[in-house]
Amino acid sequence: MHVFDRKAELIDHLNMERDKNHEIGLVPTMGALHKGHLSLVKKAISENDVVVVSVFVNPTQFDQKEDLEKYPRTFERDVELLKQLDDTIVVFAPDAKDIYGEEVIAKEYNFEGLDKVMEGAFRTGHFDGVGTIVELFLTTVSPSRAYFGEKDFQQLQIIRKLVETQNLPFEIVGCPIEREPHGLAMSSRNERLSETTRKEAGFIYKTLKTANEKFGTESASEIKKWVKSQFEKNELLDLEYFEITDENTLTPMLKKQANQKYRAFIAVYAENVRLIDNLRLN
Ligand code: PAF
Repeated sequence: MHVFDRKAELIDHLNMERDKNHEIGLVPTMGALHKGHLSLVKKAISENDVVVVSVFVNPTQFDQKEDLEKYPRTFERDVELLKQLDDTIVVFAPDAKDIYGEEVIAKEYNFEGLDKVMEGAFRTGHFDGVGTIVELFLTTVSPSRAYFGEKDFQQLQIIRKLVETQNLPFEIVGCPIEREPHGLAMSSRNERLSETTRKEAGFIYKTLKTANEKFGTESASEIKKWVKSQFEKNELLDLEYFEITDENTLTPMLKKQANQKYRAFIAVYAENVRLIDNLRLN
């Protein structure tokens, strides 16, 4: 198992792999790995000769200091999990200055409006931070493919826009959401929930599934109203937003059009932990 904390050493190692015509897959993470991450890593292993997993809690994508400080950090355990999966995985865990240079700040991007709604509207500067670090990892690793989970579907669409607008020659692969037994989308943040709330948070997915059933006969505004009323009755979960949008442009659906793909997005607070989820509607 190779664990690098310096960019220059990682690049030397990957150049040797490329000399052997090995294709490289990249799975960017912020650590605190769970089954959701491992499913991305498994997919990357099945499609590449070498897999790099980056573990880096990116400061520029947090809009709240407390959220950054409380983000779970479990590096030893992460390395152990990856080793058990496949001990040829390459782990890259740089410090902020090594990957960013002297100034740990986000670039400003034009994501053509994808970043102005939902997560972007509630977390100022978040997607500039994500874009900056993902671009840095992509250009450092130069992978054939990079893997991202659909739990952060808005992030996935923004990263697709990033590679398109910056002309980056890397394939972006989206991977399905992994769920806990009660339906809660897997996330490193789930670790911060009490057992009762973690179970109750299955309500988020249950509501998305019912919204999907209603989608056949009800308008977006009727469904939004219904979702809001469900959360008003729930004492443990606070709804931040629920939106139904076009899957590609992420603009709110006004009137359903044939041949368009729609998705429901939700953000909820539980015990001060922010949870997000989404579901393709059909
Ligand atoms: O999805 C995440 O964990 C992060 O946003 C990412 C893509 C690793 C960038 O820090």
